[in-house]
Amino acid sequence: MNILILGSGGREYSIGLAISKEKENHKLYFNPGNGATSQIAENINIKDYNELAIWAKENAIDLTIVGPEAPLVDGVVDIFKEHGLTVFGPSRAAAQLEGSKVYMKNILKKYNIPTAAFIETTNEKEAHDFIDTMSEPIVVKADGLCAGKGVIIAQSKDEAKQAASDMLSGSSFGEAGTSIVVEEYLDGYELSIFAICDGDNYKVLPAAQDHKRVGDGDTGPNTGGMGAYAPTPLVNDDIYKKVEERVIKPTLEGMKKEGAPFEGVLFIGVMVVNGEPIILEYNVRFGDPECEILMPLLETPVSELFYKGATKQLDKLDIKIKDEYGVAVVMASGNYPYSSSEPAEIIVDEILDEDLKEHTHISYAGVSMQDGKLMATGGRVLLCVGFGKSIRQARDRAYGLCGQVHFAGKKIRTDIAYQALK
Ligand code: AMP
Ligand code: GLY
Repeated sequence: MNILILGSGGREYSIGLAISKEKENHKLYFNPGNGATSQIAENINIKDYNELAIWAKENAIDLTIVGPEAPLVDGVVDIFKEHGLTVFGPSRAAAQLEGSKVYMKNILKKYNIPTAAFIETTNEKEAHDFIDTMSEPIVVKADGLCAGKGVIIAQSKDEAKQAASDMLSGSSFGEAGTSIVVEEYLDGYELSIFAICDGDNYKVLPAAQDHKRVGDGDTGPNTGGMGAYAPTPLVNDDIYKKVEERVIKPTLEGMKKEGAPFEGVLFIGVMVVNGEPIILEYNVRFGDPECEILMPLLETPVSELFYKGATKQLDKLDIKIKDEYGVAVVMASGNYPYSSSEPAEIIVDEILDEDLKEHTHISYAGVSMQDGKLMATGGRVLLCVGFGKSIRQARDRAYGLCGQVHFAGKKIRTDIAYQALK
């Protein structure tokens, strides 16, 4: 197939890497890609979605895969479909599950899907009155996309009221915060569960755990995610079953009733509280770094999974997952997540250890190619990914690879997968 991937991060790189390793020979393009995707594919750079769809038709693209949320919320899938193209991802309407927390919470409520008790409001007094009835901590969320920063976990009522007022006045997140959700705090452990959906049918991938805080032991500010592992032993069949019956099925049924059938990746942010899965939020795309371990764990060709997802054929697919564990350690720039960092050359030692060579790889994210040199250009730069028959073995291999990769200021967490190894 001729395949186009939209995006430029480690998530998109890992999808491309998995496709480039398939038996079938595909022609792969990235828009815009990064300094390393050009080594496995051809990078193009077209910003306008209509122009991009025309390019895709001219280049006989058989399948387009959309990585990040922004183009989905902007309606890139609708535009591609209008041009008669096959594209894997939700429509603009269905992408509201991520684009608007108010929309998402109302869907959860309407279809009786377990979630934290909440109100949604645009009114400061209403927010403050509700906060007065709650026990601490209290969670305040901006409605719109805020690049992962729109959630405040307030330790006191005063802090919650301040956060609500700052959001509603537009001073903290602009338009994205002028409508808010105030909800109860859920105390449990967090999981990322992904369902590949075609509107009617779905396939669930092994549950993963992300590590959102920048520092070891879950300290410091939130990031996009500093590492992940899967499958996590914190999920048993009972939890998978509850997530399917209470969450995925009613969501797919509900979205059909709403006239916005859900096609694409449903990323279910779950908090397990006393053995019960409660939904924190939906995203409408893969998690990053979760994607970087899930793609290589798939035995089913990734291109086939997404093509069948895009063409309503998931019921005909028997999904196969490797009998292995994966651990991904993010290597970020020195100033991440506070500020940008100076570009720095990335040096990867020649890997002589056969075991490491066979069971690890790098997934590249914030990199560019300058004069033939691969440069770290800030944020999350790359991920060292390891696989093994146990989480410990996969983790040791991932950290083994970390020791072979160098750039000025490189920063990692040293405790990825700790919850599974306690
Ligand atoms: P979100 O942007 O909705 O994913 O929220 C970011 C993070 O905030 C989540 O991954 C959770 O760790 C935390 N969070 C969000 N909502 C709640 C809640 N109701 N209770 C506890 N933690 C929460
Ligand atoms: N890893 C969490 C996210 O992609 O939102």
